[in-house]
Amino acid sequence: MQPVTKKVEGERVWLKNEDGSLMYAEGATERPVGDVWTIPIINPVASERLDYPTQKPERLIERVVLSGSNEGDLVADFFCGSGTTAAVAEKLGRKWIVSDLGKFAVHTTRKRLIGVQREKKAAEEDFRAFEVLNLGRYERQAYLNVGGRLTGKQKAQALAQKENEFRELILRAYKATGFGGSEGTATQDGFFHGARNGRLVVIGPINLPVGRLFVEEVITECRKRGASRVDVLAFEFEMGLFPAALEEARGKGIDLTPKYIPAEVFDKRAVDKGQVVFHDVSFVEATPRYEKKNKLAVRIELTDFSVYYTQGAAEAAIAAMKEGKSEVMCEQGQLYKVNKSKEGIVKKDRLTKHWTDWVDYWAVDFDYMSRKEIIKVPVGTGLGGVASLPGLEPPQAELTILDFEERWTGGYIFENEWQSFRTRQNRDLELKTAEHTYDRPGRYTVAVKVIDIFGNDTMTLVPVNVG
Ligand SMILES: C[S@@+](CC[C@H](N)C(=O)[O-])C[C@H]1O[C@@H](n2cnc3c(N)ncnc32)[C@H](O)[C@@H]1O
Repeated sequence: MQPVTKKVEGERVWLKNEDGSLMYAEGATERPVGDVWTIPIINPVASERLDYPTQKPERLIERVVLSGSNEGDLVADFFCGSGTTAAVAEKLGRKWIVSDLGKFAVHTTRKRLIGVQREKKAAEEDFRAFEVLNLGRYERQAYLNVGGRLTGKQKAQALAQKENEFRELILRAYKATGFGGSEGTATQDGFFHGARNGRLVVIGPINLPVGRLFVEEVITECRKRGASRVDVLAFEFEMGLFPAALEEARGKGIDLTPKYIPAEVFDKRAVDKGQVVFHDVSFVEATPRYEKKNKLAVRIELTDFSVYYTQGAAEAAIAAMKEGKSEVMCEQGQLYKVNKSKEGIVKKDRLTKHWTDWVDYWAVDFDYMSRKEIIKVPVGTGLGGVASLPGLEPPQAELTILDFEERWTGGYIFENEWQSFRTRQNRDLELKTAEHTYDRPGRYTVAVKVIDIFGNDTMTLVPVNVG
């Protein structure tokens, strides 16, 4: 069959046959691509290589994107890994949405896409802005949703039951023993929910960040019981709580370790396999530097960052990044690179000599409170609009969604207005932002986000006053 028409995009060609079927071809010969594709692996020294364990060559994804979409189309990859699909889509003028459940994947993708934006900017080409959104909180809300045809009292009971189940799930993922007896049973011992490795475990409120009052309560309850070691698990901690709250606890003889409950607790398979890692909490210090000449301007300097990785958490993070083939180890909260010479002599080099060595990326939003985070929630037939939420049994599932309404989540969207990060080729990090000039005098809230070398992020808010 002879092709009758062709469409050319760069080196790629679409050939249309007489019967209307399409063949995809590449290169000057316009030879149609066959069923078996031979595409070379990424060269070990190529700038494209990001050391993400399952990274695919751009050349492969390019072929998929080109053959399956047109310029301006939307391309999605819900298992994006190092972000190859997004990078290729952006380079080829497609819109894109990507997701991944791994923090390291999201972080690698973010840096990669900023790199693509920079390349496009240098080439004076248009590029798109993008946002990184965290779905964790919505999952939590969906999990605790007890809508449906219940009275107020029934609803309260159902909610209490759900919260209890939720705590059990968290305890199981944390491999703690609940005070009801068996592992992962969340019967409360007055205040604490369980214990692990000789430490008490308490889970913070599910829908609120853990704040100073809660930490004070933990300290008081520990002292009542004569306990000196406690882990506080939470989805969020109030900003600025650490390190002061830890010092206060230490001053009262209590070793308090705050840990983040990761979004992976919603992944039943990960919980069953015992693969859920609760990360340690870090803190950031950033200082505004005002400009003498320009009263409306400020620069933000990153002045401290601290994270103390406990042995297990660091090892799990290293393993997740390198699939276990790592030569990096963690000892006493510090990271070491281990080299073995031909003669079998093992040499350990400390990788984290200075606090800046923990920082992989930091970004600043100079006016954080300016963009509220709005979500669209389904509105049902007067019964709470819960029909589209996952995990619901009939009769709720039979409800029809009539519309969606916009709701403010109580949070704000972080806009990367300035950032500095390390890449494989360039390990330097700038510690002071470029000068930012506000339109008018006033008080603003600057948000500073730091992502550590394991892809975990921490944010702090810095008030500034200009004019
Ligand atoms: C084979 S890798 C993708 C590699 C990617 N094509 C690249 O070039 O880097 C698969 C990815 O899917 C992610 N993943 C696995 N289960 C997932 C889930 N349920 N939801 C979202 N991402 C998931 C993993 O974290 C991993 O990064």
